[in-house]
Amino acid sequence: MTLKPLQIGNLTIEYPIIQGGMGVGISRSRLAGAVSANGGLGIISTAQIGYDEPGFDKNQEEANLFAIHKHIAKAKEISGGKPVGVNIMVATKDYPAYVKAAVDAGADVIISGAGLPVRLPEYVGDSDCKIAPIVSSEKAVRLMLKNWDKKYNRTADFIVIEGPQAGGHLGFKKEQISEITAEGYEEEIRQIIESVHEYEEKFGRKIPVIFAGGIFDYEDICHAISLGADGVQIASRFVATEECDADERYKQAYIQARDEDIEIVMSPVGMPGRALKNTFVKLIEKKPLPVSRCFNCLEKCNPAKVPYCITKALINAVRGDLEHGLIFVGANVGRISRMTNVHDLMAELTGKKNVMRHAG
Ligand SMILES: Cc1cc2nc3c(=O)[nH]c(=O)nc-3n(C[C@H](O)[C@H](O)[C@H](O)COP(=O)(O)O)c2cc1C
Repeated sequence: MTLKPLQIGNLTIEYPIIQGGMGVGISRSRLAGAVSANGGLGIISTAQIGYDEPGFDKNQEEANLFAIHKHIAKAKEISGGKPVGVNIMVATKDYPAYVKAAVDAGADVIISGAGLPVRLPEYVGDSDCKIAPIVSSEKAVRLMLKNWDKKYNRTADFIVIEGPQAGGHLGFKKEQISEITAEGYEEEIRQIIESVHEYEEKFGRKIPVIFAGGIFDYEDICHAISLGADGVQIASRFVATEECDADERYKQAYIQARDEDIEIVMSPVGMPGRALKNTFVKLIEKKPLPVSRCFNCLEKCNPAKVPYCITKALINAVRGDLEHGLIFVGANVGRISRMTNVHDLMAELTGKKNVMRHAG
């Protein structure tokens, strides 16, 4: 199968591959720029994106909004002007300010999950920035599209479906995650696509549907397309690349990880998340880690009640302090066996280059 370009309104992406946004700091300009330069769509995560800016300790929001501008500009420089997007979690404290900063900075696309982005159309206004909600069920997509239609007379520019194999926060109940298999979820994907068709007809335009979660290789991409998806979003595979913005030790943790090292943890975001069962996760499972200071990351978080500070845990991780860090992973992390670069990974994912399969 030859992979067709992904058309999102007037944006043409050479390959139907979106690199999933990864916070904190895992996908910033270096990774996103490289993915876009190599024909995919690179996505910068805005979650505490300014964690290493000089003013971050004093004013997180100011540092983050500054960093959004800086990283979008940098990514576009790397991509040679090709489209670059951002991922903004709905749960972010002062979410509208982040959306506005991304639009002002020239983001071509905003993908929003960890909650339903019901007011996103209002925040992007009449800019040309394309918007996509992340959904995990047909119920959620129906609710979103109906809401945008009624309230704003507009629809999504594309939809990202995040299945149970994805990394980071998951839109399922903890007990559901082990019950839903990849195959079992296919019926949900079909139903989501059906619902989207209704709005395509109503608005007289194509709404591409992108599938995310556990996509490992070219065959997986072809399979998602055979189910009716227009493209895929892949995150975990981009971590073990030279260009990924995380510390080398973080990337090595991905390469070393085995299936049995994966754990579903509860996050202060209020959703379960898939992560590596490292010293940090074992610790928080035994007793909560008191939060000594707040980094103002979430709209709804009570530092006195959460089991740990997610910002602190994710910043430790991206900096390579893995003992004290939370390492989010996708379900297929155990299959990642070596370091690569974005050019070679894109060649592999698009079926242009054969790679030796990892045996173990
Ligand atoms: C380390 C990591 C961090 C992530 N951070 C975010 C995030 O900040 N916001 C978000 O919407 N999704 C986040 N995700 C989900 C990815 O964007 C993506 O949809 C998902 O991981 C796809 O599954 P895969 O990793 O198996 O390819 C994260 C995933 C990982 C692995």
